[in-house]
Amino acid sequence: METKNFFLCVLALISIFLPLAQSVHFKFPAVFNFGDSNSDTGNLVGAGIESIGPPYGEIHFKIPSGRYCDGRLIIDFLMDAMELPFLNAYLDSVGVPNFRKGCNFAAAGSTILPATATSVSPFSFGVQVNQFLRFKARVLELLAKGKRFDRYVPAEDYFQKGLYMFDIGQNDLAGAFYSKTLDQIVASIPNILVEFETGIKNVAKFGTDPSKLDELGCVSGHNQAAKLLNLQLHALTKKLQGQYADSNITYVDIYTIKSNLIANYSRYGFEQPIMACCGYGGPPLNYDSRISCGQTKVLNGTSVTAKACSDSTEYVNWDGIHYSEAANQYISSQILTGKFSDPPFSDRMPFLLNLKF
Ligand SMILES: *[C@@H]1O[C@H](CO)[C@@H](O)[C@H](O)[C@H]1NC(C)=O
Ligand SMILES: *[C@@H]1O[C@H](CO)[C@@H](O)[C@H](O)[C@H]1NC(C)=O
Ligand SMILES: *[C@@H]1O[C@H](CO)[C@@H](O)[C@H](O)[C@H]1NC(C)=O
Repeated sequence: METKNFFLCVLALISIFLPLAQSVHFKFPAVFNFGDSNSDTGNLVGAGIESIGPPYGEIHFKIPSGRYCDGRLIIDFLMDAMELPFLNAYLDSVGVPNFRKGCNFAAAGSTILPATATSVSPFSFGVQVNQFLRFKARVLELLAKGKRFDRYVPAEDYFQKGLYMFDIGQNDLAGAFYSKTLDQIVASIPNILVEFETGIKNVAKFGTDPSKLDELGCVSGHNQAAKLLNLQLHALTKKLQGQYADSNITYVDIYTIKSNLIANYSRYGFEQPIMACCGYGGPPLNYDSRISCGQTKVLNGTSVTAKACSDSTEYVNWDGIHYSEAANQYISSQILTGKFSDPPFSDRMPFLLNLKF
């Protein structure tokens, strides 16, 4: 085999600002970083896989400091610029690592593609993402125990407001040149990117809580989307009305009726605003997407049935997806007041108000 010298300089620095609206301000409460030696602040060393001795670190830290550099890394300068302290490595286990302002999962030698038996670092991108998920879960556990840990771990909302940085990919290419041709390496790029995309999606999905619940226990994102759609739907009905003068087009805001019902359920004679009457799993939702109302299935080796509650009129929600008859009756009565319509129709259909429920 001929040996070639490659002068390779690959830097994939991708920063994902979450949420996007904050990107211009650079006021991030915390930073979560993923990568390889370009941004490793002590993981590979902390894991005991490699050791880094002098003269590493000589120009700044005066000790090797777990970095593959004579001093500071790009990430250190970026943290400085954001007026944040240097990131502790996830695997720093001696002393009191402080993760209040974030955590670094980057480890020297890591690849985007899964590690193999010959990889320098077992902490490939997917593993770093798993470490992050574990980190987050553990932090939330500690925060739930009281204020004792506040100084050492990020606040819950830092996961949503934080900056996520990714600087990885060099080893996927550089490492491959030992055993593959340029053509083979170029052909592997789509796989590398698929793996990268999967990791990013996992961080985004679990890191930022799209399933964040509002004060009613409802998924905020879903309701936000519903409101936006309704806003545009309302505008569309106006536009259509303009175009079809001989038709009557009425927009009914059922969202407002339903959210009022869920928020103020007891006023309308209900006892359960969000728990399904017919389902499996018990409180708070009594809903399990694997087993729908009326079904019997073997879960975890036991046969279980999603049964109905004893009095469905106490429930707003019937089966986890659909409203109960009692709720539908209330919602209809509200639609028929005409107050939630544009244009309002009560004046034009007075007979409807006499309907009895
Ligand atoms: C429908 O629209 C027409 C024209 O604007 C109006 O005269 C009529 O009263 C409307 N009918 C109902 C049922 O609202
Ligand atoms: C619940 O009722 C209160 C008092 O009438 C009202 O201000 C509030 O908007 C209602 N909640 C919702 C989500 O509609
Ligand atoms: C299955 O069993 C495990 C271990 O007992 C338990 O942790 C898990 O919650 C169970 N899952 C379901 C769906 O009941």
